[in-house]
Amino acid sequence: MNRQGTDAVAPVVVIGAGLAGLTVALQLAADRRVIVLAKRSLEEGATAWAQGGIVGVLGEDDSVESHVRDTQEAGAGLVDEHTARFVAEHSAEAVAWLVDAGVPFTNDPDGPLGLHLTREGGHAVRRIAHAADATGKAIHDALLARARAHPNIELRERWMAVDLITSRHLKGEREQRCHGVYALDIVSRRVETLATSGVVLATGGVGKVYRYTSNPDTATGDGIAMAWRAGCRVANMEFIQFHPTCLYHPQERSFLITEALRGEGAHLRLPTADGPGERFMPAHDERAELAPRDIVARAIDFEMKKHGVDHVWLDARHLGEPFLKEHFPTIHARCLALGIDIARAPIPVVPAAHYTCGGVVTDLEGRTDLPGLYAVGETTYTGLHGANRLASNSLLECVVLGRGCAARVLVDANVPATALPAWDESQVEDADEQVVISHNWDELRLVMWNYVGIVRTTKRLERALHRIKLLRGEIDDYYANFRITRDLLELRNLVVNAELIVRSALRRHESRGLHFSRDFPHTLPVSFPTVLTRPAKSLTR
Ligand code: FAD
Ligand code: SIN
Repeated sequence: MNRQGTDAVAPVVVIGAGLAGLTVALQLAADRRVIVLAKRSLEEGATAWAQGGIVGVLGEDDSVESHVRDTQEAGAGLVDEHTARFVAEHSAEAVAWLVDAGVPFTNDPDGPLGLHLTREGGHAVRRIAHAADATGKAIHDALLARARAHPNIELRERWMAVDLITSRHLKGEREQRCHGVYALDIVSRRVETLATSGVVLATGGVGKVYRYTSNPDTATGDGIAMAWRAGCRVANMEFIQFHPTCLYHPQERSFLITEALRGEGAHLRLPTADGPGERFMPAHDERAELAPRDIVARAIDFEMKKHGVDHVWLDARHLGEPFLKEHFPTIHARCLALGIDIARAPIPVVPAAHYTCGGVVTDLEGRTDLPGLYAVGETTYTGLHGANRLASNSLLECVVLGRGCAARVLVDANVPATALPAWDESQVEDADEQVVISHNWDELRLVMWNYVGIVRTTKRLERALHRIKLLRGEIDDYYANFRITRDLLELRNLVVNAELIVRSALRRHESRGLHFSRDFPHTLPVSFPTVLTRPAKSLTR
C-alpha cells in the first residue's frame, strides 16, 4: 500500500462551495490554508437557487423572542430552543456580515440597516432580507468573488469527495478521528488522497432522492452518507420538506415560485373547467396561504387528490404588473419565457421535495461525533428546524453556524498531516454499468416519490425499504467492482439517504410537522428527535 505524508500542518478541507462552505472557508482563511471542493461547477448548488431571502431579526416590531416562537411553531414541537435562540440572537450580525461582504440586498431607506424586509409563511412580522427574488445568487456571487481573491483559499471545481479517511483506515490506530478525504478529480478521473487537519462537510441536502424536487443536481446527500459510513449519528431524516409551490410545466421541472409571493398577497386557488376557482387555504388553516409549509403542502396534496387535478393555481394577478416586475423579476421573466404572464394569468403549481430538515448531528460549533470532522448547513441536524423548517431560516443557519464552526476549527485543527493509504485504482471499467446506474437512479427516485411522499403509510414505507435494500445490494456490488464515476458515487449516497429517511419514518409512530402517517394520524403529547446510530460492527473501511 502506498503512503503519502508530510510533517507540515495540513490544510483544512471544506467539502462544498455553497453558503455554508464559503462562510467557513472565508472565516478560516486569515489563519489557515483551506481547500474547497465542489463536485460540479462552483456556481452549482442550492445556495445560488435561493429566492425568498434570509431571516434577520432587525425590525423595530421584531424580537429574538418572536423569531424563536415562529421557528418553534413551524418546527411542531421538535425545535431545540437553545439552538433557535442562538441562531436568532446572531441573525442581525449574520446579515450585517453579508452586507459587509458586498451582497446587494434590496434597499429601503426607511428600513433597518437600510434594507427592505419581506415576509413569508409562518413569520409574525416582516423579517426577510432579500435581493429581489434571487437572494441566493446575490449572496453566492459576492462570497465566491471573495473566496476566489483570497490567497489562502484553493477552490477545486469538479472535485468530488468520495469518502472520509478515518482511523479505521490506519492499521493499529485505536483513537477514532478523521484524517482526510479521498477525492475524485472528475476531469482526470483520478482519486487523490487529501491529508487534512480537519474536514468540514458542507455538501447540502438530499432533494434529488425524490423524482420531483426544487433542488439542483448537487443535492444527493453526499455529506450525510459519508458521515454515516464513518460512524456519525444522523437525526430527523423523516422530515423532508416539500415546498408547496414549484412551477408545474413540462419544460421546467425544478423551478420554485417563492413563498414571498404568497407573503406579498398571492392566493392559492383550485382549478375549475373555467380556470382558477375558489381559494382553498382558509378552509385548512386560519393563516391561510401564510400557514407553515407542511400545512400548505399537505392542503395542496389533499385538494389535488380530492379533485383529481395535476396542479393548483397561484394567483398573483391582483398584485399588479409594476409590483411583480420590481419585486419578482426572475419569476416574472422565467414564467414569461414559458408563456405565462403572471400579471395576467395564474401560475400552475405543485409541491416538490425542497429541504432536508435532518442530517448529521452537530453541536453549535459544527462538531460531529468524529473528532476532526465538522459539518455545517443543510447537511446537518442542529435542532433548529425541528419537524419543519421555517422559511428563510436555512441561509441564516449556514452563516451563523458556519462562523461558529470556523472558530472551533481554528482552535482544534492544528494537527500535522498523517501518512494515509492511497486509493486502490485497480477497479475496471464496465460499459454496461452506466445504463444500469441510470435505471437505478430512476427507480430509487420513483420509489421515494410514490411511497415516501407527503402522506405516508407503514405498508408503503415497508415496501419502499424492501426495494431500497435490493438496490443497495446492487449498488454496493458496482462500487466494489467497477471504476467509480460521479453518477455511481451519487447513487451510492442517495441509496444510503433513502434508507435513513425510510427507517426514520418507520420509527415515528405519530404524525408531526412534515411527517404525516395515515396509520398514526395523531400527534403524541411528548416527542423526541429520531436519532439513528450505526452499529459499531458494521463499520468497515
Ligand atoms: P449548497 O448550497 O447546496 O452547496 C452544496 C455544495 O456542496 C455544492 O458546492 C456542491 O457541489 C458541493 N458538494 C456536494 N457533494 C459534494 C461532494 N461529494 N464532493 C464535493 N462537493 C460536493 N433557504 C433560505 O433560507 N431562503 C431561501 O430563500 C431559500 N430558497 C430556496 C430556493 C430553492 C430553489 C432551493 C433549492 C432552496 C432554497 N433554500 C432557501 C434553501 C437553501 O438555499 C439551502 O438550504 C442552502 O443554500 C444550503 O446551503 P449549503 O451550503 O448547505 O449547500
Ligand atoms: C422560498 O423562497 O419560497 C424558499 C424560501 C426557503 O426555502 O426558505
